[in-house]
Amino acid sequence: MLLYLSFLLSFSLVLAKHEMYDGLLDEEDRLMVEAKRKSQRFGTARIGFDRVYNLTEVYTYLEEVASSYPDLVTLVNAGKSFEGRDVKYLKISTTNFEDTSKPIVFVESLLHAREWVTLPPTLYAIDKLVTGNLTESSVLDKVDWIILPIANPDGYEFSHVQNRFWRKNRATGYMANDVCVGVDLNRNFDITWGDFSSNNVCSETFHGRHPFSEPEARIVGDILRSNNNRIKMFMDIHSTGSMILYGWGDGVLVSNALSVHAAGIQMATAIDAVKTHWNPYYTVGNSALVLYRASGLAMDYGSVSNIPYSYVYELPRHRNALGVDRFLVDPALVQQFAMETWEGIQAGAKFIRDKYT
Ligand SMILES: *[C@@H]1O[C@H](CO)[C@@H](O)[C@H](O)[C@H]1NC(C)=O
Ligand SMILES: *[C@@H]1O[C@H](CO)[C@@H](O)[C@H](O)[C@H]1NC(C)=O
Ligand SMILES: [Zn+2]
Repeated sequence: MLLYLSFLLSFSLVLAKHEMYDGLLDEEDRLMVEAKRKSQRFGTARIGFDRVYNLTEVYTYLEEVASSYPDLVTLVNAGKSFEGRDVKYLKISTTNFEDTSKPIVFVESLLHAREWVTLPPTLYAIDKLVTGNLTESSVLDKVDWIILPIANPDGYEFSHVQNRFWRKNRATGYMANDVCVGVDLNRNFDITWGDFSSNNVCSETFHGRHPFSEPEARIVGDILRSNNNRIKMFMDIHSTGSMILYGWGDGVLVSNALSVHAAGIQMATAIDAVKTHWNPYYTVGNSALVLYRASGLAMDYGSVSNIPYSYVYELPRHRNALGVDRFLVDPALVQQFAMETWEGIQAGAKFIRDKYT
């Protein structure tokens, strides 16, 4: 009974908490709709940075990029999400991925569905690379890229149609009547699984049934493992907090932490140089020391798969908010966050170019 009461209580608290943000949600909706009304169709194989685009729009864009740049881009259907959506990524390479001496940089976003601000930067990276609109072409000529913009398609779609603040995937079958659903994909990787995560499916950090129980996590894990001789840098883009973080998630430092930290500083410095004046400078450090301890992380799975430079980016908070409204996005700032994050990604790619070519 007590348990039941406390469950009801926490459930209504959650509702109340979200209702508190109704006004802000409406505002985000209004601005996105307004931006959509104003945006012209950006043309084949281009996407706008005037708002956050939905799953269908992004997948259409990826298809167009692949067919418009066949010599440069390969679209990979990596497998299906829990609900059966495709997980799609691009391989971008001037040498058709065949030059095994070239290092690979792997960037992914939206492992956590509600972190909408993380999507424009990966799309911006694609746009920059395929259109060749680069300040230094060597990040394309000397480096191959894997870019996975929507790692959690079910959650992302759900965050558009149902619950803007949804974080996990949409896996069911973990609880009678599916009162609670979804696994935190960034606690589901096969590394220190279960140490600092939740066994309760109602929790935002529920780690799933066993390591890699979730198809979306398995897909990312497969990319890391099957290219681990060539991927030299992995950036898992999240929000929020203006941070660049590295392992291990339990607070023990990766063995090359000094060099990982140095590359992290180069990326953060590149972002800080062009960031908005009202956002804080980036913090670089071990994820447990800067943020909190966590296990089953994609970042740590990168490290354990011998990717020497494996990071989490935490992009800036929305208006420095501390509640869930920190995940909202002002369409007028999408271009800015895409551009500044790209500066960091590009600085990372240059570091890799210099070290491995
Ligand atoms: C996604 O955007 C397209 C094009 O603007 C629209 O037709 C579609 O209804 C949107 N899907 C969702 C789930 O909002
Ligand atoms: C090229 O990139 C710059 C920013 O670096 C941007 O302002 C410009 O619009 C881009 N050009 C095209 C054709 O996309
Ligand atoms: Zn996240």
